[in-house]
Amino acid sequence: MIKPKKLASRNFLSSLDMTKEEAIQILDIARSFKNKDLNINLKNKVLGLIFDKSSTRTRVSFQVAMSRLGGTTIDLNPTTSQINRGEPIKDTARVLSRYCDAIAVRTFNQSNLEEYAKWSTKPVINALTDLEHPCQAIADFLTIKEEFGELKDVVITFIGDGNNVANSLILNGALLGVEIRIACPKGYEPDSSIIKKSVDITNNTEMLKITNDPISAVSGANVLYTDVWSSMGEENQKEEKDKDFKDFCINDYLLKKAAVNAIVLHCLPAYREKEITDQVIESKNSRIFDQAENRMHAQQALLACLLQ
Ligand code: CP
Ligand code: NVA
Repeated sequence: MIKPKKLASRNFLSSLDMTKEEAIQILDIARSFKNKDLNINLKNKVLGLIFDKSSTRTRVSFQVAMSRLGGTTIDLNPTTSQINRGEPIKDTARVLSRYCDAIAVRTFNQSNLEEYAKWSTKPVINALTDLEHPCQAIADFLTIKEEFGELKDVVITFIGDGNNVANSLILNGALLGVEIRIACPKGYEPDSSIIKKSVDITNNTEMLKITNDPISAVSGANVLYTDVWSSMGEENQKEEKDKDFKDFCINDYLLKKAAVNAIVLHCLPAYREKEITDQVIESKNSRIFDQAENRMHAQQALLACLLQ
């Protein structure tokens, strides 16, 4: 039975708050939880959840993961707490960390999350920011590893906006040594700081390819992955982005250009017939609902490594 080793970093604000060894360990632990091979007791531990944006998967998978580990969660709705009244993060974080054993935060700017981490005396977890979605990336690689066993020869093509989901996929992929291709319209490339960090880790410019051509990007890929074109907080850009991304839909035509037996992922929620067709979501290639389930096993593994 695996014995989870505590993460060296107190917080999990970014995929890079893990080392390569820790990224591998978390996947093994998540797998063990899924196989019911691991029993960790977080009795009396409390995870606070602060969600400045909507959530189904992240919120519920944290709640269920914590409950499976014997702990509990408190959902701190910003509207009914004093958060939306404008209480400073540094006050909220100091108070909550006297009650809770960890706090998961979904918010807009990464700097808000960093402010929570600065003032909290307990671990702070990134439950999605505009920059990163590192919990999602753990579940993504868990799903990919389940399918292919080894990760080293897998090619992942992400088609869509180079933002939070793509950024964490890139960084976690760099830690695990997986080739990532990003296909996005001009102007929607991932943040240059993310690209630089990825190259610094892999020391190999061939491991991350960024292109504006979805067709060449899917050629021979084992995993096709997408996310919404307009993220939460970008509702006013929807019309413009719908136009810019119109050639970046995962449909049957693109899927046929990928490797035989390629799988399709989407972090969800999806807009069918925008970034992905209904047919592809429901196809035999889709692992989208396994991926969603894996959020819970991934979260259990992360909590075990932060709170044990
Ligand atoms: N994938 C994901 O984070 O989903 P939610 O927004 O429902 O949490
Ligand atoms: N990029 C999306 C992911 C949702 C899980 C968003 O930020 O809205």
